[in-house]
Amino acid sequence: ELHFSQDVMAKTTLHKLLAMKQAGEKFTCLTAYDATLAHLVSSNGTDVILVGDSLGMVVQGQNSTVPVTMDEMVYHTQAVSRGNDGEAMIMSDLPFMAYATIEQTYINATRLMQAGAEMVKLEGGRWLCDTVRALSERGIPTCLHLGLTPQSVSMLGGYKVQGRDETSANRMVEDALKLVEAGANMLVLECVPSQLAREITCAVPVPVIGIGAGPDTDGQVLVIYDLLGLTPGHMPRFVKNFMAEASTPADAIAHFVANVKSGQFPAPEHGFSK
Ligand code: KIV
Repeated sequence: ELHFSQDVMAKTTLHKLLAMKQAGEKFTCLTAYDATLAHLVSSNGTDVILVGDSLGMVVQGQNSTVPVTMDEMVYHTQAVSRGNDGEAMIMSDLPFMAYATIEQTYINATRLMQAGAEMVKLEGGRWLCDTVRALSERGIPTCLHLGLTPQSVSMLGGYKVQGRDETSANRMVEDALKLVEAGANMLVLECVPSQLAREITCAVPVPVIGIGAGPDTDGQVLVIYDLLGLTPGHMPRFVKNFMAEASTPADAIAHFVANVKSGQFPAPEHGFSK
């Protein structure tokens, strides 16, 4: 029984992430798309694995996440679930239009949870409050992705920093508060000014993960291939290639984890101003 309670202590849960937020302790999240990557990231101290629909770009070679299907998300979530060392929490993306109606959301979120996800991520603001409430009431935790929401790239007119003007910044703060009130258990903020990310992180009682959102969110996420320096071409400014100062992929991940926990990553040059 002692064994059992030790295992429970090590396992990342929503409660554990919330306790970390309250204690001011940073946590880490990395994407993984297969069993090998899942084992690599989870066995080197990552708290949360994101089976991100970024797989459309970095695995499939598409030029956006829009083509990613539910069948593909289920397939990759199953593979990640088999490779997880058992301690990381697995969060999977509901892909483009998989949560357009509540009925579709029930079916698709169920598929991800049965594939091994412990939480589902959806992109969007206040219009998702009913969806979040419906999932929450049925026992499915949600993470809401705000700021640069890649599934809406055509509407946003490109991969641009969001919330730079006062109106859109205020709207993002309101979206965050409304979604949390509806039952959202976590937020991801992508490409927003560091000051706005700090404001949202302080305003909501749930853990907030940042990517291109400065140093003050509760957790940090990167796409694993970016961290390992495997992505060709131009890198967004929030990315750091941790292989540059490591001799193995395991070392690079351990460096990322240590740098996030100590507050060294992200540095000011990785963030955006208003
Ligand atoms: O799909 C993904 O990998 C993501 C992260 C970049 C947050 O949504």
